[in-house]
Amino acid sequence: MPSIMRTTTLPCGETIPVLGQGTWKMGEDSRRRVQEVNALRLGLDLGMTLIDTAEMYASGGAEEVVAEAIAGRRAEVFLVSKVLPSNASRAGVQRACESSLKRLATDCIDLYLLHWPGSVPLGETVDAFEALKKAGKIRHWGVSNFDTDDMEELVGLPEGANVQTNQVLYNLVRRGLEFDLAPWSRKRGIPLMAYSPVEQGALANNGRLEAIAARHDATAAQIALAWVMRQEGVIAIPKASSQEHVRENFAALDIGLTGEDIADLDRAFPPPTRKRGLEMI
Ligand SMILES: NC(=O)c1ccc[n+]([C@@H]2O[C@H](COP(=O)([O-])OP(=O)(O)OC[C@H]3O[C@@H](n4cnc5c(N)ncnc54)[C@H](OP(=O)(O)O)[C@@H]3O)[C@@H](O)[C@H]2O)c1
Repeated sequence: MPSIMRTTTLPCGETIPVLGQGTWKMGEDSRRRVQEVNALRLGLDLGMTLIDTAEMYASGGAEEVVAEAIAGRRAEVFLVSKVLPSNASRAGVQRACESSLKRLATDCIDLYLLHWPGSVPLGETVDAFEALKKAGKIRHWGVSNFDTDDMEELVGLPEGANVQTNQVLYNLVRRGLEFDLAPWSRKRGIPLMAYSPVEQGALANNGRLEAIAARHDATAAQIALAWVMRQEGVIAIPKASSQEHVRENFAALDIGLTGEDIADLDRAFPPPTRKRGLEMI
């Protein structure tokens, strides 16, 4: 069965793919550059057109890899980048965005995220994001690593409700946010963008997942991704620098987990029974 990309809807009404491509650790070693660019291009060919990067990754090097991968096909891509909390002042955001645009070789970022909460007052960062929107440098903004109380603070600010996503650590061994952040976000129609969906590769070798994968003629990594993506309003952004992994991740869209699979996964990776602080990598 050929895989077909599914989409989810942002609060602004725009649809984006539920499976994108991460880029952390790309751009760190020039000997891997061709492989990384080719992996991202293959992902685009398949329909994984959401690419997530950040000024932090390889100190801008990942954004340059992305620029090469999307050269000549910018219009296909939903481009996500992030500003560091240390650059989250009004002037800092503007400077950081200009630098990211230069490295990305584009004139506009589709979704610009605050990488994690920092010491700059949130209202100042929101003002800076809104100014970038008015200037046409970004189309939308969002946040990352925000727990429920951070989100409450954000949506209470003037224009804070313009937030389009919260990018968070979420996978089978990091389920804490299901207790409150996930229902809070779902109720407000704010998608969660799940980072490290295969726990930085560790879930690809998980024996309990392999047992379930065998029922689907699939791999453990595919089960981990299918589990994340089965949930309404959740986007997965695995990073893969090998073309084999890119193809495998894309094919995870075909896996329909059964009630028995879900029950087995809940036994192996129990959901939270109380509030835990949001984890981050
Ligand atoms: N907002 C934040 O604070 C934050 C934090 C962490 C990550 N992120 C974003 O989320 C993205 C994904 O998270 P991540 O990179 O930490 O971890 P991840 O996507 O869970 O795992 C990436 C690792 O898994 C391997 N892999 C990918 N697909 C595989 C498959 N089908 N089978 C076996 N191994 C596979 C990759 O290998 P190869 O590269 O060799 O293919 C890589 O080593 C990042 O790249 C970044 O864009 C955001």
